[in-house]
Amino acid sequence: MPGDPRSRPARGTGEILVTGATGLLGRSVCRALGARRVHHRALVRPTSDRGAIEGSGAYTWMIEGDLLRPETLSGPLEGVRIILHLAGLVRSSDVVACAALHVGGTQALLDAASPGTRLVAMSSDTVSRSHRGAYAQSKADMEALLAGRAAVVLRPPMMLGPGSPHLASLEKAARLPVVPVPDGVARRAPVHADDVAGAVLAAMELPDEAWDGRAFDLPGADDLPFGEVVQELARARGWRVPRVMEMPAPLSSGALRMIERLGRKERADKLRQRVRGMQETVHADGAAARSELDWSPRPLRQVLVDS
Ligand SMILES: NC(=O)c1ccc[n+]([C@@H]2O[C@H](COP(=O)([O-])OP(=O)(O)OC[C@H]3O[C@@H](n4cnc5c(N)ncnc54)[C@H](OP(=O)(O)O)[C@@H]3O)[C@@H](O)[C@H]2O)c1
Repeated sequence: MPGDPRSRPARGTGEILVTGATGLLGRSVCRALGARRVHHRALVRPTSDRGAIEGSGAYTWMIEGDLLRPETLSGPLEGVRIILHLAGLVRSSDVVACAALHVGGTQALLDAASPGTRLVAMSSDTVSRSHRGAYAQSKADMEALLAGRAAVVLRPPMMLGPGSPHLASLEKAARLPVVPVPDGVARRAPVHADDVAGAVLAAMELPDEAWDGRAFDLPGADDLPFGEVVQELARARGWRVPRVMEMPAPLSSGALRMIERLGRKERADKLRQRVRGMQETVHADGAAARSELDWSPRPLRQVLVDS
């Protein structure tokens, strides 16, 4: 069934619908499905960059729909038995937008899907934080929505890979001579998007009794202090390795107060929330993913080299 993936009709092509197919993880999942010769539908919006998944081959069939417009979902879901629900608003602090997509969009999928349809949903390790921002709270609410349903939830930490916005920020930091890091920032265990895609495909194979809304943590193989992740990236790129400067708490709160005084209270609040989130250690346990999904993520150095 080859042809132009932008114009091929997708109805009746496979039983898998991928949401967020044009994103970092979605591209990887579509490639992995294509490599296994599994036909699947990729949900795209009129505004999506369809070129992002064109290269994933003859097994990806694009179909239009928008999770914020439930009336557009019945066609894409016709005949679908598994939804790989990867769409998300990464790094957003917009309470309304996060809830609309992560909770409202997931509910819209559940409403439009046939009974018995299974869902692999992407959450985030941030749900384990006690100080949840808008993004983390909406992912936690999504998980609550899926509890007891025919779903499997995956919780990756920071995901890297070609074109990842997190990678762009880390690279910016790795280019600096000195990287200022707020005091007490927690360790990080970044993971490669292709490894998370492997977990998504493995989840599809779980036995019937596993589909009960259970969540799997997907921590990367190595966790390092944030500054050392940046230094590791510089090494992987062959750049000069920056020095890391811990900013004592009074210094970072002083900087935030200064931003506030400059009339940018909203910006200061967002930064404060971000720093607080960064300071909290998330206890992720990859044991269940290793045993039940046969998951073994690549070492951090390899994540950085491959991103
Ligand atoms: N990146 C990370 O570090 C990270 C860490 C933990 C968890 N996660 C979660 O993992 C998932 C994948 O992340 P990612 O980094 O691949 O995300 P991404 O690159 O930002 O892609 C987001 C995807 O969501 C789609 N989307 C957004 N709004 C939509 C809507 N209203 N209807 C349909 N699709 C919509 C986007 O489509 P368009 O192309 O149309 O914009 C895009 O395909 C997300 O659920 C994210 O929250 C990510």
